[in-house]
Amino acid sequence: MAESKDKVIFSAMQVTGKLHLGNYEGALRNWVRLQDEYELYAGIVDLHSLTTTFRDTSELRANIRDAALDYLAAGLDPEKTAIVVQSWVPAHSELHVLLSMITPLGWLERVPTYKEKREQLHIANPSYGLLGYPVLMAADILVYRATDVPVGRDQVAHLELTREIARRFNHLYGETFPEPQALLNEFAVLPGLDNRKMSKSYGNCIYLSDSEEEVRKKVRSMFTDPEKIRKNDPGHPAQCPVQAYHAAYDAEGAAEAAPACEAGTLGCVAHKQQVADLMVQRLTPLWERRAAWAAKPAEVDEVLAEGARRARAKTEETMEMVWRAMKLR
Ligand code: TRP
Repeated sequence: MAESKDKVIFSAMQVTGKLHLGNYEGALRNWVRLQDEYELYAGIVDLHSLTTTFRDTSELRANIRDAALDYLAAGLDPEKTAIVVQSWVPAHSELHVLLSMITPLGWLERVPTYKEKREQLHIANPSYGLLGYPVLMAADILVYRATDVPVGRDQVAHLELTREIARRFNHLYGETFPEPQALLNEFAVLPGLDNRKMSKSYGNCIYLSDSEEEVRKKVRSMFTDPEKIRKNDPGHPAQCPVQAYHAAYDAEGAAEAAPACEAGTLGCVAHKQQVADLMVQRLTPLWERRAAWAAKPAEVDEVLAEGARRARAKTEETMEMVWRAMKLR
């Protein structure tokens, strides 16, 4: 059982909506690989979603269930992995309060994502919670005494802050937390349908819950080289999202496709067909698992309830150590 492993992972995603291919290739797929080796907690961090989505919270609960289905569809095995809804496990919030006392404001004001979010989302009056986002993330990780955290490049600054907070706590109150290591996922970032970054806010995503028909239609609509109009026009595969997907799914095939595209012997329509086939192949097992879980919603509820039970047991143990270290127990 997972409980006996000495390496512990906590990782998580926000629940701002359905998960897309980038979430799968960049994170979920990696977690599935890691779940045999590690005691793995896969978080659905609804409190983090509140840092930006606090006015209209009506969709959060449905999003949690969608995320859980996506996690299960991706192949997280609830026998091995605890799927944890953050707000169901009070220790995340408890530790967050305690860590917020020892985290200097200056550290938080320097975090690049704080400025980025304020600008992108036009937030004129940032909340205390938004500034504290990385402290909550540190609490998520440290409350499991996680040793490793799989993250993408965009989260490295957050993880560095987690390590600093852990060091500061250990220095002030005695050795309590391991300093968690980043397990960097070097997977090339998948572009969106329009060749920008894949992001829900751009409406350019392929979702894990899309049907085969939707996937094929989306691939057909994918951006391609505007200078390659006929098949025999020379293409520029290095800048083409179709080629990027091909490379992600089948490196050898992609290495053959690139010169053919450049030479004008491979046209965009045929290339898209190849890539759609590869994508469908990759996603078919996910669709099958998703359908199986979607047909038994009570069992999905049970998976989340069991994940929360395991998470509470683990995190209450940590909190006991924390209260003692701080001489409050
Ligand atoms: N900040 C992460 C993101 O936006 C989500 C997250 C919250 C997380 N808590 C975490 C990731 C703990 C890893 C570990 O992707």
